[in-house]
Amino acid sequence: MSRRLPSVVEAVGNTPLLRLHRVAKATPDVEVWAKLEFANPGGSVKDRAALRMIQRAVADGRLTTGKTLIDSTSGNTGVAYSLFGAALGIPVRLVIPSNVSKARKDIVRAFGTEVVFSDPMEGSDGAIRLAREIVAKDPDRYFYPDQYSNPDNPAAHYEGTAVELLDALGDRLTHFVAGLGTTGTMMGCARRFKEHAQAGGRPITCVAVEPSEALHGLEGLKHLASSLVPPIYDPKAHDRTLRVTTEDGWDMADRLVREEGLHVGHSSGASVFAALQLADELQKAGEGGCVVAIVCDRGDRYFAPMKWERRYAW
Ligand SMILES: Cc1ncc(COP(=O)(O)O)c(C=O)c1O
Repeated sequence: MSRRLPSVVEAVGNTPLLRLHRVAKATPDVEVWAKLEFANPGGSVKDRAALRMIQRAVADGRLTTGKTLIDSTSGNTGVAYSLFGAALGIPVRLVIPSNVSKARKDIVRAFGTEVVFSDPMEGSDGAIRLAREIVAKDPDRYFYPDQYSNPDNPAAHYEGTAVELLDALGDRLTHFVAGLGTTGTMMGCARRFKEHAQAGGRPITCVAVEPSEALHGLEGLKHLASSLVPPIYDPKAHDRTLRVTTEDGWDMADRLVREEGLHVGHSSGASVFAALQLADELQKAGEGGCVVAIVCDRGDRYFAPMKWERRYAW
């Protein structure tokens, strides 16, 4: 049945769960599920965090009429800010490295977002520094959500993603897999799952996914040892970390589109790769299990040439 929605913001969340049969056929005793976050209206998991950061700031007066939302993201959070900015009448300014693909610039500009360019040699950390400088010069003009330190980022997953998973799978769920970017998805879900276990529910092993190399092509994920570590990150929140190579993440994204009809981004390929590795461990140990991986976004967001590309180069 069609959901009738008063506003696009109501379309965020309640994303579907898909059982992966074909890529997981070697582990028949372990259920492997994908939570399809690309079903959010902005096409990614970041809609949840962006919406909550905006709504909470409006509610407590940090984001008032006339202020501009500013942040440093070329990726999915930028699309989400742009979408909600357009829907809620909030001007949006994004600081992004100038070498980001034209398609990325065009997506956010389509919503009316203003783009400010940072030094391409300084990457995403350079965009963060420039956004902070712009805000410091004129603090009253801006609302700076700063997704890396904003508690409403993990809270969106504590209140949303994790609750939806517990509702859908209940005490069947044994393992939760998510990539670390801002770390909001993992921090929020892991906190909810720990509380669920403390209240007598089944313990759920939380497994974080990181790129195995500092220079990688798993966009959206951070190699924490060589990055600015997000202040919201607590390494004790999750139980394990699995490191995935760019090749394995990209190959799994290729398998998902060809074998399951799921056209997903490379960070999602990496998370499903890690989920299948866990399923293999459980199968070999003779244990059943139920593993969920977060599928962050769709593959068509990555059609434009990227820095790490098999066929194209900048
Ligand atoms: C494609 C993609 N994958 C994974 C992530 C990681 O999610 P989080 O920021 O909640 O750690 C992001 C977030 O930026 C993303 O855009």
